[in-house]
Amino acid sequence: MALSLSNFLIPIAAILSSWLMPAVGADTVTFDWDIGWTRANPDGMAERPVIGINGQWPLPLLNITKGDRVIVNMNNKLGNETTSMHFHGMFQNGTSDMDGPVGVTQCDVPAGSSFKLNFTIDQPGTYWYHSHSRGQYPDGLRGQLIVHDPENPYLGQFDAEIPLTLSDWYHDEMPGLLAGFISYKNPTGAEPIPKSALMNDTQNLTVPVEPGKTYYFRLSNVGAFAGQYFWVEGHTMRIIEVDGVYTDPAETDMIYIAASQRYGFLVTMKNDSSANFAMVGSMDTDLFDTVPATLNTNVTGWLVYDDSAPKTAAALLDDFTPFDDFTLRPQDGMEILGDADLTVTLDLSMNNLGDGANYAFFNDITYTQPVVPTLYSALTTGANAADGTVYGEYTNSYVLEKDQIVDIVLNNADTGKHPFHLHGHNFQAIHRGPDNEGSYNATNETSFPVTPMRRDVLLVRPLANFVVRFKADNPGVWFFHCHIDWHLASGLAATFVEAPLELQKTLTIPEDHLEACRARGIPIAGNAAGNTVDMLDLKGQNESVPPLPAGFTARGIVALVFSCISAFLGMAVIAWYGAAPLSSAELASAKRFVAEHGGDTE
Ligand code: C2O
Repeated sequence: MALSLSNFLIPIAAILSSWLMPAVGADTVTFDWDIGWTRANPDGMAERPVIGINGQWPLPLLNITKGDRVIVNMNNKLGNETTSMHFHGMFQNGTSDMDGPVGVTQCDVPAGSSFKLNFTIDQPGTYWYHSHSRGQYPDGLRGQLIVHDPENPYLGQFDAEIPLTLSDWYHDEMPGLLAGFISYKNPTGAEPIPKSALMNDTQNLTVPVEPGKTYYFRLSNVGAFAGQYFWVEGHTMRIIEVDGVYTDPAETDMIYIAASQRYGFLVTMKNDSSANFAMVGSMDTDLFDTVPATLNTNVTGWLVYDDSAPKTAAALLDDFTPFDDFTLRPQDGMEILGDADLTVTLDLSMNNLGDGANYAFFNDITYTQPVVPTLYSALTTGANAADGTVYGEYTNSYVLEKDQIVDIVLNNADTGKHPFHLHGHNFQAIHRGPDNEGSYNATNETSFPVTPMRRDVLLVRPLANFVVRFKADNPGVWFFHCHIDWHLASGLAATFVEAPLELQKTLTIPEDHLEACRARGIPIAGNAAGNTVDMLDLKGQNESVPPLPAGFTARGIVALVFSCISAFLGMAVIAWYGAAPLSSAELASAKRFVAEHGGDTE
């Protein structure tokens, strides 16, 4: 598999000529997208169905200029799945309804239906776009978005841009993988391991370069799960942008880019053009429960100075020392916001519920999509919209007042790393504890950075914490979630309802958005349960799977369910899991539980 990047390279002259147009005339860029299945084999190992746009996959690279209006006319031609589209990192100021997350700001778009997004992009940088329907984007519905900036402070310091995506890749389709992942058969919550890594949706990518030139690399991790280390052999990277925020230049030999993060960096080519150089994405295997011997965790591409010179395999590294993004400083010098008016503490845990499957929790609640999308509840519950109760007990909703300074303290009681993304904002990263720091302890805090890095996805370390700060200056409903798509599916999400009463005065939901709900019988008004009369009565709300009965373990219920099945089928399948016998107390509570909830846990 080899694909030349030459058709992706954006000559700076072309960008500049479009910028020489009078600045007043922000363009409207319209995309007519048929979203449907096609087939692809990006790693050369397995052709599989993928979700494409207008019959094409990889998806189009979108080049937008800051200030442009974007209109997307989506037609869901999938036939067998609903869909949605989120432009990751866009503030959607005044257009929260165009943000995309299903159950948060809209309903899923049914097969056969159309849906229009219409919003202005007034921020520069490197982004991506992806489906925000449950577990869908890793089946291919994700692409890169670059917002060019006529006022880029680094203009003049680079000659051309190199758009680059990294991702992990699976050979099986997500619905089946998800069913296996959230299942009593997978009580530890082991995530499916990718089959390969991709660079620009291929492997062995070649990027023609010219000696002495400086390129602005636009790197987006559009993967489902794996963070990746990235480096270019023999060259230094100068980071100038992180998630769309310009930074003071920071030099490094290696970046760590978590799922959904982006980096912009300058790389100056050598003056000598006799050799070619490998650039490598290497999946972070710390995230994987097992690393199959057959898995190539790396993807390699080459900066090609001379096509007739060899493209030497990359050297294997066994030690990774990436740049610490926490030390980046925003180029605009914006200082830390004042002290928080509101601190939201989110304690992350992973545990089993009564179906024996593993779920993810904030403060012991696993996010469960409400009956009514949260934005629609905010708009239709009158004065009650300022009362978090109306958004239900399973959405981890927090109501923010206009212009409040908000801290999110995230305590990670899990041994994994998690990249957290906030919609609608960049946040300031003001504390990030090293591995095993435990929960955040404000009394130990010596000093926050004066000019903290701002970005929209921040990694929390294993058994550690972070604190991020933002100003609630963007009325809307904004999702906050782990961007490992497995963990979003297993409930690792919260909802910020920002200035709902102001929203009621400014936002009107377009008819086609409401129609997406109606077509599937989903109510568009009332509280999380769809109650339009008593907004505080949540009877009928969507609830999470009930917890395991007290004194009972996940292993127990798995063993019990298997023993029922095995008795029924006359097969001894119990042995493969949980061979240790249940205590009599476990057995008694299991029997009670099965009597109440039924033994069929799938
Ligand atoms: Cu990349 Cu909730 O989004």
